[in-house]
Amino acid sequence: MVYLTTAIDYPNGSPHIGHAYEKVLTDVLARYHRLKGDEVYFLTGVDQHGQKMVQTAEKEGVNVATLAKKNTKKFIKLLDTLDISNDGWVETTDERHKACVAKILNDLHEKGQLYKKSYQGFYSVRQEQFLTDKERDAEGNFGEEWGEVVELEEENWYFKLTEHVEWLKGAIEAGTIPIFPEFRKSEVLNALKGAENDLCISRPKERLAWGIPLPFDPEFVTYVWFDALINYISFAGYLAGDDSDLPDFSKLWPAKWHVIGKDIMVPAHAVYWPCMLHAMGFTDEQMPGLLVHGWWNVRGEKMSKSTGNFIDPNELCDKLGSDAVRYYLARDIVTGKDSDFDPTRVVLLFNTELANGLGNLLNRSLNMTKGSLGSVLCEFAYDDEDCQKVRDSHANLLVTYRNKMDALDPRGALEAVVSFVTDVNAFTDRTEPWQLKKDETKRDQLAAVLYHLCESCAQVSVLLSPFVPEASAKMQTQLKADLSGLKLNDLSWGLLKPGHETGKNKPVFPRLEPLD
Ligand code: ME8
Ligand code: MG
Repeated sequence: MVYLTTAIDYPNGSPHIGHAYEKVLTDVLARYHRLKGDEVYFLTGVDQHGQKMVQTAEKEGVNVATLAKKNTKKFIKLLDTLDISNDGWVETTDERHKACVAKILNDLHEKGQLYKKSYQGFYSVRQEQFLTDKERDAEGNFGEEWGEVVELEEENWYFKLTEHVEWLKGAIEAGTIPIFPEFRKSEVLNALKGAENDLCISRPKERLAWGIPLPFDPEFVTYVWFDALINYISFAGYLAGDDSDLPDFSKLWPAKWHVIGKDIMVPAHAVYWPCMLHAMGFTDEQMPGLLVHGWWNVRGEKMSKSTGNFIDPNELCDKLGSDAVRYYLARDIVTGKDSDFDPTRVVLLFNTELANGLGNLLNRSLNMTKGSLGSVLCEFAYDDEDCQKVRDSHANLLVTYRNKMDALDPRGALEAVVSFVTDVNAFTDRTEPWQLKKDETKRDQLAAVLYHLCESCAQVSVLLSPFVPEASAKMQTQLKADLSGLKLNDLSWGLLKPGHETGKNKPVFPRLEPLD
């Protein structure tokens, strides 16, 4: 089973383009694996607890549960708008999740992995964590990224994180915990050099009531990260019992990839989480992989509500359609690196590669097949170097596409598709089927050329299905070929059979107007 998850989003505001990207990237991978015939489980959702939620609720003058509900709806709408094919949905206020967190806490408590102590120190309200001297800058101050920093003394519960750090170092070094891209590994190892503190996993109820109570000390609630990380197993059925409607944990785990952004790798996903799993008794073989993606910036700057460069993906999809947005998010970023979100490129890439490139190919293929062959791809004997080149280009495409996707490089896979479409359009221009049509003696050649065009469109419709599922289905409707059940291995040349009747064309990729 290929179990893919994304980070769960804070619904303390509206979703932004970074959230959309993470869903699309994971969805493309999930759909690709289904295309390969793998069994897939794709989990995503929202992280509703924590101080940030309370702060926003206070600012807006609403009850925090109401805020969580209201904003969670916006995230659900985004998944729907973007055609995200998730199998499971997480909300951390769900009773099933709370029960799982409570069981894990009890279990760790019984194992002696948790202890209570008093601590005095500096606390970042924004990041919801105590700060140490490590977090001070050269001048000895806590930088702006920590927001408001206050001095606190309080009793809390701690998890014996440091007991697991040596094990973790070894596991990271040995690659037992897969981390992509590779260069992030050294970042984790560097962070571990200074990991000398245990993890505070509670907040006193009087300071923060919005959380999961510690089952053995109900004056405290669980720290939001400790609660949120557990979503990856709670919603996969961990400790759920036989009568639960959650999945069978033994079939799902370990997760192939947790898809997360670079800001939450250290310490949450690469330090706390593996140590938590290790303390629960998970073995090295049961450690999930971390797929760490980069960030979308806007004109080189970090996106934020306050600077007014916040990109709302729901709005963007309303204007441009979800396929254009999905295509852009998969096409204009290297997995693991940052990219600049550029609305003019959303339109440009769609218009050049989809409208002019593929749309034009599909359009002329169907039009000419209708005009010359009455929409029936008849039997032919003709072959030549040009036709052979199309088939060679297709064979190359299949290899490259698979290699790129397996290497977590959707952008590279799309580049290969675009290059194939360019080849087939060039083939059309060279063979001039509109001229062949005028010459009765060239009927067989015409049939061969049109077959190569329609078959190329059919092939591309399948390869693009993980990226632009809506457009891919439309292409197949117009080709009158339902290829939705096909697997990647079935994609040898010859999906359309002689005698196949093609349908009517209607622009699948209508040109987009530039955004103002
Ligand atoms: O971190 N570009 O939630 P979150 C790309 N609840 N990705 C971005 C981004 C950007 N500009 N901004 C944010 C949380 N992200 C926690 C996660 S998981 C157990 C708990 C990514 O809403 C970010 O890196 O702040 C993270 O992976 C995801 O969006 C959710 O961020
Ligand atoms: Mg964040």
